[in-house]
Amino acid sequence: MSKQMSESVLEFEDVTIQYSTAKGALTAVSNVSFELGLNEYLGLVGESGCGKSTMAKAIIGALDSNGRVTSGKIRYKGKELQDMTEEEYNEEIRWKEIAWIPQNAMESLDPLQKISTQAVKIGKVHTDFPEDEILDRFRHLFDIVGLPESRITDYPHEFSGGMQQRAIIALALFLRPSLIIADEPTTALDVIMQDQVLKYLDGIKEESETSMVMITHDISLVFETCDKIALMHSGQVVESGGVREVYYEPRHPYTILLQRAFPDHRYPDQELSKIEGHPPETIGEVDYCSFADRCPWAIEECHAQEPPASPVNKQQNKDIAHNVSCVRMDEIRELADLESAAPRGGSGGK
Ligand SMILES: Nc1ncnc2c1ncn2[C@@H]1O[C@H](COP(=O)(O)OP(=O)(O)OP(=O)(O)O)[C@@H](O)[C@H]1O
Ligand SMILES: [Mg+2]
Repeated sequence: MSKQMSESVLEFEDVTIQYSTAKGALTAVSNVSFELGLNEYLGLVGESGCGKSTMAKAIIGALDSNGRVTSGKIRYKGKELQDMTEEEYNEEIRWKEIAWIPQNAMESLDPLQKISTQAVKIGKVHTDFPEDEILDRFRHLFDIVGLPESRITDYPHEFSGGMQQRAIIALALFLRPSLIIADEPTTALDVIMQDQVLKYLDGIKEESETSMVMITHDISLVFETCDKIALMHSGQVVESGGVREVYYEPRHPYTILLQRAFPDHRYPDQELSKIEGHPPETIGEVDYCSFADRCPWAIEECHAQEPPASPVNKQQNKDIAHNVSCVRMDEIRELADLESAAPRGGSGGK
């Protein structure tokens, strides 16, 4: 265990992030904890608005001006990030250590500079490479993401939206950062390019040590490419663990229902169900399970406290911790099995 601890690349410890709004402090991320090790890929999954980009932006020091980490610690290789200034961030962390592929490409492209100029600038600040080599590496990355090498001297506005996102992926990867935060990186890439970029990432993962947080709506992509998964619902990480274990032994009601909402090759005939209801509006402190209103197995307690993340199989000493935030986590599989054995159309089935 201690070995794994010392190799932690990214760590969230009880992190709460709020935005100040006209209605009050909106809690976008509530008491989130998880850890990412060296060479690990984590898939961060959850429906629109659950706080994924907020987590990403907090890691890279790019929260909107009304957003703030109000409690908890975010550590990169042991160093606390949550109180760093923009300047410290740019000098010590951005691009070379942690690279961000934002959901909206223009958030990290400078519209007034050619892409190649931006690459050279970043390369010069963070490496000792001569300009030729910086440009060579950048051209190679253009090729990997499916852009013609000749277009590295274009301005951002000369690209389409999808091409801008590819250019950002090239910028994020060419210095081989230790940690990549990729927010919906593949929406702009078609399936062939996705494959090529993921293969490239696998290649550099073997040569240089790279960890990644990949944010996506595509849960099957996570099961194919990531080592770990964290599922979020309305600001809370409800379940996290190794992808295999979470896939075969989900313990949180949201994970269980989400699986039923996706086609599953194990049960091709299964009728797909939809998760009813909406996430709550989280103004102020969140002292309840944010899934309780939508959960068919919720009891009174679920509305009265925010369940802490607790390990599944406490006695087992596993490589990857499997944590679940649900007061009924020990009985939930039985409850869910009973339900799926019952005719469809019951309380949570459909
Ligand atoms: N600058 C802001 N001011 C106020 N509220 C914000 C701000 N940015 C995000 N939010 C709110 O914070 C919550 C989380 O937003 P976030 O962008 O992190 O979601 P997301 O999981 O990335 O969603 P999507 O999958 O649609 O990208 C949402 O309720 C959103 O409305
Ligand atoms: Mg987002």
